Amino acid sequence: MGKTIKIIYGSSTGNTRRAAEAIAAKLGGEVINVAEAGPDDFKADLLILGTSTWGCGELQDDWQNALPMLESADLSGTPVALFGLGDSVGFSDTFVNGMAEIADKAVAAGGRLIGKWSSETYSHTGSTAEENGFFVGLALDEDNEPGETDGRINQWCARLADEL
Ligand SMILES: Cc1cc2nc3c(=O)[nH]c(=O)nc-3n(C[C@H](O)[C@H](O)[C@H](O)COP(=O)(O)O)c2cc1C
Repeated sequence: MGKTIKIIYGSSTGNTRRAAEAIAAKLGGEVINVAEAGPDDFKADLLILGTSTWGCGELQDDWQNALPMLESADLSGTPVALFGLGDSVGFSDTFVNGMAEIADKAVAAGGRLIGKWSSETYSHTGSTAEENGFFVGLALDEDNEPGETDGRINQWCARLADEL
């Protein structure tokens, strides 16, 4: 796309990291572990932020620590796309909740969210990251639907390119 793309992820067991790498393989861009991110990493033409959800609907640990950096970033006019890893069966009523926290902070920092994703085909019962049949970003479930991940990423990346 000829633009600076940064893909910043937080991952405890590697699922979100692998998704970040797959997205980078499609769109290009720099892949950054949020545990090692600095304020300058939040400057890009397209920011893609990924997190898993832990506890009972909580943001991944490294993201918890990095939230102040996102809060103080100036994202005015920056398109921001989100992706979230979760477990739609074992944690059906807090599925990918972590994405919602990042979405709130990114919007408060002036970011323009892109890449909403239909929640129709998922078996979850509740998510704070869902509104009117859409997740705020791409939802992935490596615990129950690993076979869907590549296709979902491909389709989402194609759509992001269109939305930009
Ligand atoms: C103790 C524990 C709590 C979890 N809590 C949630 C949750 O509340 N909501 C959710 O969608 N997934 C939850 N998950 C599932 C993880 O988010 C999922 O396995 C994810 O792929 C992990 O990604 P990561 O390896 O990048 O951290 C939980 C998993 C464990 C083991």
